[in-house]
Amino acid sequence: MQTIELNDFQQRLLSIPEEFDIFCGGGRGGGKSYGLAYLILRHVEQYGEKARVLYLRKTYKGLADFELVTREIFGNIYGTAARYNAAEHVWRMPNGAYIELGQLESHADYTKYQGRSFTLLIVDEAGQYAEPDLLDMMRSNLRGSKSIPVRMVIAANPGGVGHHWIAKRYVFTGSNPWEMFYEPRSKRRWV
Ligand SMILES: Nc1ncnc2c1ncn2[C@@H]1O[C@H](COP(=O)(O)OP(=O)(O)O)[C@@H](O)[C@H]1O
Ligand SMILES: [Mg+2]
Repeated sequence: MQTIELNDFQQRLLSIPEEFDIFCGGGRGGGKSYGLAYLILRHVEQYGEKARVLYLRKTYKGLADFELVTREIFGNIYGTAARYNAAEHVWRMPNGAYIELGQLESHADYTKYQGRSFTLLIVDEAGQYAEPDLLDMMRSNLRGSKSIPVRMVIAANPGGVGHHWIAKRYVFTGSNPWEMFYEPRSKRRWV
């Protein structure tokens, strides 16, 4: 039996109701990326073969870092029953869930995802994106059904090239941290 110990930040992160999208801010080393992996894990366990997760990074280097995180966490839990296809960057879980680790840097990369459906969309290190336009386009790939709520989760370290649009959109919202706010661009409620 494998136990996972969440830190305080991750406990709060996992306690946010699924109907809200999430912006995950805070300094490097706080446990954001691991927290994202735990959100993925829970989604996978909850929705089984209906779960289609896309985790995005801007660079292949970043993707490789998260690949190691998933190998550690999913490997510990599922052993060899979870299979990772390193060429496709795809995890196929024992219960049929699908997790793709993707790279998205330019509009040309977007064509890799065009027309495809995902139930959980995660963007890590979003501060590396100078503009939000590509990430806003990705939202159209979120499609679920009544039995499975779709959700977007964005994480960022402070100080990247995207600091300004991120702070404006997700930090200076008029709400306190960990409280819900309405975000007009997505027309969704976020925490
Ligand atoms: N729940 C946890 N249990 C044990 N170690 C953890 C946990 N969460 C994070 N860590 C450790 O802390 C480090 C930083 O976490 P990470 O998620 O990469 O932070 P961030 O993405 O905020 O920079 C990781 O490399 C990992 O070793
Ligand atoms: Mg990180």
